[in-house]
Amino acid sequence: MEQIDIAASSKEEIYRQLLPQIESLLADETDRIANMANTVAALRQSFPYYSWVGFYLFDATKNELVLGPFQGKIACTRIAVGRGVCGTAFNERKSIVVPDVNQFPGHIFCDGDSKSEIVVPIHWNGSVIGVLDVDSHAYNSFDETDRIFLESLIGSIAGKIAPL
Ligand code: SME
Repeated sequence: MEQIDIAASSKEEIYRQLLPQIESLLADETDRIANMANTVAALRQSFPYYSWVGFYLFDATKNELVLGPFQGKIACTRIAVGRGVCGTAFNERKSIVVPDVNQFPGHIFCDGDSKSEIVVPIHWNGSVIGVLDVDSHAYNSFDETDRIFLESLIGSIAGKIAPL
């Protein structure tokens, strides 16, 4: 069993140390559920300001995002495409950083204590197959550093979490 080993103080340095460890954790596994589950666990245990982290995956039969592996409190099971931060990031095919969720029209409160959020779409073979969603109980938790590193992570592991 591998361990996640981080010795860092800045978020940038945590991401720099963590991302290769997640890639290595997933390297020999082909099961997408196991890979998503370990990815969210590794992220959650490395960042104290993450209150919730999880995947929402596109269900083409219903044109909705459906809850995937996550760490945190129970959450909304389904989100219509175009709704909330997740459905908007999916539709626009780009990441959204929300410093104050009260200022995002249509934000969906799964956790009433959530204050800020980042959502990163998962691009694979020309399609968006879902999103990674991260919440925080503090305002302004996410910035360009989170966006750049989470996009890099999702880009490098997309093939390990995509349907076969
Ligand atoms: N806040 C999200 C919904 C998912 S929960 O935060 C886990 C949204 O507005 O899409």
